[in-house]
Amino acid sequence: MTTERARYFDTWYANMAESPLVDEIQRRHLGLPPGLPSTSLLTWDGLAEVTDELRLAPGRTLLDLACGRGGYGLEIASRTGAKQVGVDHSAVAIEQATALADRLGREADFRVGEFAATGLADGSVDGIVCIDSIQFADPPEAAFAELRRILVPGGRVVLTCWEPRGEPATERYARLARLQLAAELARAGFDDVTVVERPEWQGAERAMWEEAAALEPGDDPALRSFHDEGVESLRHWGSLRRVLATATAP
Ligand SMILES: C[S@@+](CC[C@H](N)C(=O)[O-])C[C@H]1O[C@@H](n2cnc3c(N)ncnc32)[C@H](O)[C@@H]1O
Repeated sequence: MTTERARYFDTWYANMAESPLVDEIQRRHLGLPPGLPSTSLLTWDGLAEVTDELRLAPGRTLLDLACGRGGYGLEIASRTGAKQVGVDHSAVAIEQATALADRLGREADFRVGEFAATGLADGSVDGIVCIDSIQFADPPEAAFAELRRILVPGGRVVLTCWEPRGEPATERYARLARLQLAAELARAGFDDVTVVERPEWQGAERAMWEEAAALEPGDDPALRSFHDEGVESLRHWGSLRRVLATATAP
């Protein structure tokens, strides 16, 4: 079933493919190489930490959940020698991720799926990374239960996200405010739950949003969306803390 939000992301990804400037600005601020398309706020340094936290050995299976265009997961798989699976509810994102893997000459299994219905078997993945996306899980409990179901015992889950410092001000922040990562991971039965603040990642984020907010988007819908998100993010700057959450399946 294609949801309204999946259709929104389909259009978002289709627009982005027509607007290389957004990618260029994003990569420059996040310190990412040209072959790594991101639609989030994780820096190159942050990716190294995320990769370490997954503790993947060669030949193990990595799931990049809400993988978007697949860039981060492919990079982690390349560094660790893991087999790559990517799931996202946007069919357009999955097409773009598949095309990226083909261009890079990499094997990867990208498929359409939902946070709470990945289509993967019980205990079939060794590590799960979910970058700047788990706030879209609705309800969150179903997504966290799915993470636990598909991970092998001892498998690691690594999430990058934001948590509110105070009361939410807009729908966007209300969604983040509902998310209590440590509580959700613990409720789903994970061990070794940690949630640590990463203020240093927010420096690059702020500089990127300042550039986005200052640009004139004209009639380019991807630039318009990027600009509007920059304006909105700066308006509420300081209301969110940047976090890295990790846990181990029992
Ligand atoms: C901010 S983007 C991040 C994409 C990618 N992780 C990255 O870092 O480049 C959020 C992603 O979450 C996906 N998403 C949102 N809701 C979802 C759901 N219910 N199930 C699966 N994916 C979802 C969107 O399609 C989008 O690709």
